[in-house]
Amino acid sequence: MHIETKAIHIGRSVDRTTGAVSIPLHTSTTFHRGADGAFPSGFEYSRDANPTRNAFEAAMASLEEGSTALAFSSGMAAITAVFEGHATAGRIVVPDDMYFGIRSLIEETDIGRRFEFVAVDMRDLDRLRAAVTDAPTGLVWIETPSNPLIRVVDIRAVCQIAHEAGALAIVDSTWATPVLQRPLALGADAVMHSATKYIGGHSDLMAGVVVVPEGSQLERPLRMIQRHKGSVAAPFDCWLALRGLQTLPLRMRAHCEGAQKVAEALAAHPDVEEVLFPGLPDDPGHALAQRQMNGYGAMLSFVIRGGAEGAMGVASRLKLVTRATSLGGTHTLIEHRASVEGPRTMAPAGLLRLSVGLEHPQDIIDDLTQALNGLG
Ligand SMILES: Cc1ncc(COP(=O)(O)O)c(C=O)c1O
Repeated sequence: MHIETKAIHIGRSVDRTTGAVSIPLHTSTTFHRGADGAFPSGFEYSRDANPTRNAFEAAMASLEEGSTALAFSSGMAAITAVFEGHATAGRIVVPDDMYFGIRSLIEETDIGRRFEFVAVDMRDLDRLRAAVTDAPTGLVWIETPSNPLIRVVDIRAVCQIAHEAGALAIVDSTWATPVLQRPLALGADAVMHSATKYIGGHSDLMAGVVVVPEGSQLERPLRMIQRHKGSVAAPFDCWLALRGLQTLPLRMRAHCEGAQKVAEALAAHPDVEEVLFPGLPDDPGHALAQRQMNGYGAMLSFVIRGGAEGAMGVASRLKLVTRATSLGGTHTLIEHRASVEGPRTMAPAGLLRLSVGLEHPQDIIDDLTQALNGLG
């Protein structure tokens, strides 16, 4: 079955009691017990399992070509569960350019005290090999494309290096979605998404999901963390995510087409020093993205002449493009990452990160151009 069809059908069927074609939303926290003490529906209590969450998990497992998915209350809850559930203490190797929330998780919670985190540029495979071999390493965390420098990392090569060192390799594939990238097929031990982004697709839900292959050593610990620590995805969020999934393949195609046009227009503007986007032929990640992905995604960063002041000025003059954090929704969003991330940021001062939405690409380009032309 093709991904467009799976995205609509897997995990869902016509409701047997009502004939409803759209999947019902099950908000009940508790389920009827039979006179014999058993649970005839298979459901007992929603923290353990919920029909709407099960449907979302089944859909995600299928889209990622995995065996089991586990849905959490946010992407960060899913990431925390993976760090806690990977069984070995010791070193976790993370990319130096990664979603800033993980850096905050490490620096500001007990997670950073329980494991030794080492950050490397995972495009440098020799440095990665050194990082996983000079101390016992349990986990290698991959994020590709990365945030905010839009680097592309070789999933197959990194997984191989991790496995040779006895470590698990897990991919945050939020920016690529299962439409553009299949980490499990490239050797990853699990794939994680912030479903808050493209999977939901409309900036109106918060959830995270981890998909594991058949026989995964992670499945049971993750299920126990989900169930007993309780950071489960809410039924309504799962229902919205299921709705979002139905148009995910279509949306990703349109997102990618729009981003390519916007990136090319920005690259041609004299006040833009650099555009970071693997869809551009001279981008360092271009060839790898061509091999590894089915499209270049819709996240791009661009560096503006005039540093932070220039970038803030451009952002302030935008009329259509919305100044807001997050990504993956219908609205094009822009953010000055250095001011969000503070002094430890990898983002150059003049960098603006853009999540290209689903407006007409020419309208996005026109707005960016008028804002850039005001640089003076
Ligand atoms: C790549 C990536 N991973 C994880 C997360 C965290 O997800 P959430 O905000 O759903 O907790 C984000 C959020 O922006 C992200 O961009």
